Amino acid sequence: MTKLLLSLHVVAAILAIGPVAVAASMFPAAARRPDHAALPLLHRICRVYALLGVTVPVFGLATASSLGVLGDPWLLTSIALTALAAALLALLILPGQRRFLAGDSPNPARLGMLTGVFNLLWAAVVVLMIVRPGSTTGA
Ligand code: HEM
Repeated sequence: MTKLLLSLHVVAAILAIGPVAVAASMFPAAARRPDHAALPLLHRICRVYALLGVTVPVFGLATASSLGVLGDPWLLTSIALTALAAALLALLILPGQRRFLAGDSPNPARLGMLTGVFNLLWAAVVVLMIVRPGSTTGA
C-alpha cells in the first residue's frame, strides 16, 4: 500500500509540478517579447496543473502516515516549504500573470523573480524527499 501511495505521489509530482515549473518559467520571458500569443496558454497550464498539483501533498501525507513518519523533522520541513511554494503560486504568481494579461502590470521582472524562488522551493523539497536528513527509515 505504501509503495502504491508513494508511486502516486511521485507520478503526481512529476506530471503536475513539472508543467507548472516550465510554464511559469516561460511566462516572464514570453511576456518580454512583442508577440504575446503564447501567454494565455502558459497561464492556463499554470492554473490547471496547479489544481492537479493538490494531489501531490494529498498522496504525500497518505504515504507519510502509512510509513509512520508524519512527525519527522525532514517531513515537517517539506510540508512547510510545499505550503510556502503553493502560497507563492496561488497568491502572487497566478494573480501576477492574470494582471499582466489584463494589461494592469506591464513589468514581468517581478514575476520572473517570484518564479525563480518558486522553482528553488520545489528543488529544495525534492532534495529533502530524497535525502531525508535525520531519517532512520530506509536508505
Ligand atoms: C505536503 C507535502 C509532502 C509530503 C507530506 C510528502 C511526503 C513524502 C513521503 C512520506 C515520501 C516517502 C519517503 C520515504 O520513502 O521514506 C515522499 C517521497 C517523495 N516525494 Fe514527497 N511529500 C510532499 C511534497 C512533495 C513535493 C512537493 C514533491 C516534488 C516537488 C515531492 C517529491 C517526492 C519524491 C520525488 C519522493 C521520492 C523520494 C524517494 O523515495 O527517494 N514531495 N514524499
